[in-house]
Parts: sequence; structure tokens; C-alpha cells
Amino acid sequence: MTIPNSHSALERSLIDHISKYGPVTFESFMNFVLYDNDQGYYPTRRRTFGSKPVGTDGDYFTSPTTHPVFGALLALQLREMWFLLDSPSEFTVIEMGAGDGTLRSDILEYVQQELPDFAQTIRYVATDLVPPSNVNGVLDNSYLPSDVVGCIVSNELLDAYPFNRFIVQDGVVKEIFVDYQDGKLVDSVGEVSEPEIAARVDPFLDSLTEGYKGEVNLRLGYWSDSVAAALQRGYVITVDYGYDRPDLYQSSRPEGSMRCYYQHTLSQDPLRRIGKQDITSHVDFTAVDHTLMVNHIKRIGKLTQRQFLLNLGLKDFSDDINLRSSNKELSRKDFLENLAGIEALIDSDGLGKFRVVLHAKNIDQVHRITGITGHKSLVEGRNTPTLNNSEASHARLLRSGNPFGQTNSELRSGMTWEQLFCDDSTSSVN
Ligand SMILES: C[S@@+](CC[C@H](N)C(=O)[O-])C[C@H]1O[C@@H](n2cnc3c(N)ncnc32)[C@H](O)[C@@H]1O
Repeated sequence: MTIPNSHSALERSLIDHISKYGPVTFESFMNFVLYDNDQGYYPTRRRTFGSKPVGTDGDYFTSPTTHPVFGALLALQLREMWFLLDSPSEFTVIEMGAGDGTLRSDILEYVQQELPDFAQTIRYVATDLVPPSNVNGVLDNSYLPSDVVGCIVSNELLDAYPFNRFIVQDGVVKEIFVDYQDGKLVDSVGEVSEPEIAARVDPFLDSLTEGYKGEVNLRLGYWSDSVAAALQRGYVITVDYGYDRPDLYQSSRPEGSMRCYYQHTLSQDPLRRIGKQDITSHVDFTAVDHTLMVNHIKRIGKLTQRQFLLNLGLKDFSDDINLRSSNKELSRKDFLENLAGIEALIDSDGLGKFRVVLHAKNIDQVHRITGITGHKSLVEGRNTPTLNNSEASHARLLRSGNPFGQTNSELRSGMTWEQLFCDDSTSSVN
């Protein structure tokens, strides 16, 4: 078969593979187009100077890249966890899927400046499947330590794990594969490649309409196993968007939760812009719990990012920004940019709707974790990190416009970003 020259090298390899071996699972397709070492989205974006996937010039924003207050609040939460574990002489924080290292940089900077006792004991290991070549502090996954006392942190890691897709046809679960027909990559439907795909969806079939499409992530078990191997005693903080399973598979979301990001626009067409756009799906937090539970790691809390950050004391930081503006310590522009960044973190229609899920391993006593209970502010009396003082680069939301306001014409007509991404036809959080 001749493959047209109009296809990129990545597409040509994919098409060549499909023509030899037949349609591939969506999980294999996604793994190839996002992570292929030579031509995949993440490796090429990370190798190309000035071309990061995350940030103003990239394809999307994340909480750490929005404002350093996110890292500061996590630093305070980590320090409290260190105390609750009886202040071990070494407290290891492992950040998985650390990307360009912004969260690492913000947490360590805040610890150095504000938390000198914790600075003596914290060891921070940031890893990524595709570490950026120009960021010393982010290592590849082979550097993951084992048996640490401390906390495993991730932000928007699990949504980036390759997933399988399914469709409900004639009342049963079928799988959506990627095929090449008539000169184009297309969806093709067949029997499920793994029984687990149907097993996860079957309990919800009665409520799903014919043609419903969704995702199943079979890889979460690999993540849980690596968390279990890394953590001997301590906590796991997982920040991402997603639902517990009964809320994930809802007929109100008939196209599933798959989303593609390209230069801050959003689509649901993964077979376009191959290797140039990111592909994600909502996280199945029931699968997260199950896979951790078999590793003796128990869920201790699940709440929205908004609630978690407010519990830790975010409002004290925004009050301080307001006060410094009234005292003329911040220019009008700095005031507005900092406030916009902080408020974006708790925006109920955006990042504030993300979930923060906390798990614990080998901890018998019930600890009052402030991020979960909000029984006191951890911020009182501490300095507020600002965009200008931070070493890492962050979005300047007022300059870049509202990153969450843009959609493109491929999306189902009339839907806003918020409706597509954060629809909450489902029941409450936590
Ligand atoms: C959406 S980005 C988030 C980056 C960063 N945590 C942030 O919040 O800005 C997802 C990251 O997960 C990384 N990733 C994907 N699969 C991974 C794996 N199996 N192990 C470690 N990192 C992985 C990607 O390379 C990418 O850097």
C-alpha cells in the first residue's frame, strides 16, 4: 500500500503498522502518538526549545503553572504530614509526572523561604516519563526511589495515561479501535480486546443509551504498583479531573470524557493533528481506589480542589494580595494578575472543580489532615508567594486571556468549555 506524502512521519509509521497488523486499540494509538520517543507529542514538544506542552505558549495550563500559591499550599500540607508522621529525619516527596518541574520549583522555593524546619528534612524527587532535557530537577522514571517515608504527589498525571475506548452497541460493550480506510485514520468497532473493559462498564449498561462512547483506563494498576513500591509509609495526594465510576459513566455525557488540547483549544477528535495535540480523559477514581487498595493503600479523603485549597488557607493569601494592593505595595497590574491566578485555582467552573484525592499507607491512627478537614488555616502569618517573586514561569492569565474560554468548532454545537469539561450533571463530590 502506498501512503500519501501528505502524512507526517508519525502518521506514516502508524498507518504502516495498521496495514500490516490490522486496527490498533486506542490505548496503543495514544501511547504511540503521545509518547513515541522519536516523534510523539511529549518527546518532540519537550525537545524543541521554547515549545512546552504546558503554559501560555503551549496547549494547556495546569494548576502549578497558574500561580505559585498552589505549590505553597501543597508545601504547607506536606509539612503538616511530616509532623503527623512524628517528624522523621527524612521526609521524601515523590512527584510523579512532574512535567516541566514548576510544582517542584514552587514547593521547594516556599519551603526554603518559609518553612526552615521542614527544609532540613524534605527530600524532593520529581520524575516524568518524558523529562524535559533542560530542567535538571526532573528525572526519568528509572530514578523513582523505593520504600520511602513521605508523600507521593501528582497533578494531572493519570488523565494522561493511555486508555481504551468503548461504545455501547445493541446493548453490549464493544471496543473502538483505530483503523486506516480510504486514505484516512478512522474509528472501527470490534469485540473488546480485554474482558476487563466490558466488566467495568457492564454494571452501568442499563443507564447508558445506544451509541454511548466512553473510556476505560487499564493502566492505573501500573501507577498504583509503582506508588506502592515507592511508599513504605505515608500519604498519596492525587490531583486530577474525574469521577467515581457511577458518575463517570453517565448518559448525560454520551461522547465520553475524551478531550484533545491544541494551543488552548479543545476538541474531541484524536485522529487529527496527530502528534501535535494532547489527548486526555477523566480519571476513574474508583479504579484508582481499587488498584491502591489491593496494595494496602486506603482512601482517606476526596474533595474538590477548590475546597482543598480553601481548607488549607488560600483565602488568607488572596486577602494578603488585596491588602498589599491597598497599601500600594503591588502595582495595579501585579495585583490583578496575582488575584486572577489565585482565583483561577478555585474557580468552580474550571480548576476548582478538579478532584484532590488523598490516600494513606501504613498509618493506623486517624490524622486530621487540614486539606481534608479545614479545621485551621496553615497560612496564617506566612508570606504570600507572587508571580514576580517566583523562580518558575507561570501563566499571566490577564495577558493570555482566559485559557478556559476558548473552544473550537469541532465541539458539539452550543456547548461551552465548562459544560464539556466540567459538566456536573452528576452527584456531589466527596
Ligand atoms: C498533563 S501533564 C502534567 C504535567 C505537570 N504535572 C503539571 O501539572 O504541569 C502530564 C505529564 O505526565 C507525564 N506522564 C505520562 N505518563 C507518565 C508515566 N507513566 N510516568 C510518569 N510521567 C508520565 C507526561 O510526560 C506529562 O509530563
